[in-house]
Amino acid sequence: MRIHRIAAIPGDGIGTEVIAAGIEVLEALAAADGGFALQFEHFPWGSAWYLSHGRMMDEDGLERLRGFDAIFFGAVGSLEVPDHVSLWGLRLAICQGFDQYANVRPTRVLPGIDPPLRLSSPADIDWVIVRENSEGEYSGQGGRSHRGLPEEVATEVSIFTRAGVERIHRFAFELARGRPRRRLTLVTKSNAQRHGLVLWDEVFAQVARDFPDVATDKVLVDAATQRMVLKPGSLDVMVATNLHADILSDLAAALSGSLGIAPTANLDPLRRYPSMFEPIHGSAWDIQGKGIANPIATFWTAVMMLDHLGEAGAARRLMRAIEAATEARVFTPDLGGTARSADVTRAVLKALRRVPHS
Ligand code: IPM
Ligand code: MG
Repeated sequence: MRIHRIAAIPGDGIGTEVIAAGIEVLEALAAADGGFALQFEHFPWGSAWYLSHGRMMDEDGLERLRGFDAIFFGAVGSLEVPDHVSLWGLRLAICQGFDQYANVRPTRVLPGIDPPLRLSSPADIDWVIVRENSEGEYSGQGGRSHRGLPEEVATEVSIFTRAGVERIHRFAFELARGRPRRRLTLVTKSNAQRHGLVLWDEVFAQVARDFPDVATDKVLVDAATQRMVLKPGSLDVMVATNLHADILSDLAAALSGSLGIAPTANLDPLRRYPSMFEPIHGSAWDIQGKGIANPIATFWTAVMMLDHLGEAGAARRLMRAIEAATEARVFTPDLGGTARSADVTRAVLKALRRVPHS
């Protein structure tokens, strides 16, 4: 029996609801499979923890997480703690502390979902956004001087290192190579950002020489938003900086039907540290406790986690069950339906029982 140890960090807002649903589905999947087991340990960190402990996680939090095979993360963000405090105290502390430099964000129009665009085929939107996840605009460097005075100044410094840029490009090329269309689009803003993003362009061209089987092109980030809307079928894998890809991935999620279905993986491809898997949607405290959060993003996130753990068969089965549930249009309000979170979970569990073991 293969045992995978998972650290569950539900965090804030609907994070607790969707992670509970995700664990329920994962446990059912593992029990039916029989070949592997998942051992969850729960960490109660987040904004509520901050209010009683003065920190977002235990001081030795990273040490405690280090031995796990993966981290299953809900969301962080609440009204009581400033966002930059909660974020840097937990989610970004984990991403950066564990050098999870590759953030992977797949987007597809799942069966049954009506996307906001008129597409010639749902397959027009079948993208993976590869987000640089360790530096760039999220490096955390900068500062504020003369606070509160009229001459106050703040800097927010983007950092791009050759090593950081090269490793994310290599990762994106490898990923693109494994997909049927083998196409990688570089998204930058190297006309205006003439240092760091010119480095991005140059390193991309160098790495491309090692991947002659991958077709490449490049587009500026503003033009990329247009292309995603007007010519979605021309895109396959995109690689972009931390902030650019953050923005593009929200657009991608909206174009696929809802932010409520979009998953992500924060990977340390070198497997020195645990990788972290989370839905993109965030804590959505406005719908917290109402039982209407869409758990699909978390289920799809679980698929990515299973793949990372080497459980490809179980990952495929879960994805098929998710698609069966969307095909049957068991939709929460974000997708225009009236189903509750529990209805979606039940539909996926039911579909799982029908998906054959391959
Ligand atoms: C995301 C989110 C986060 C990010 C927020 C919560 C800081 O928007 O994962 O896309 O920008 O990284
Ligand atoms: Mg975002």
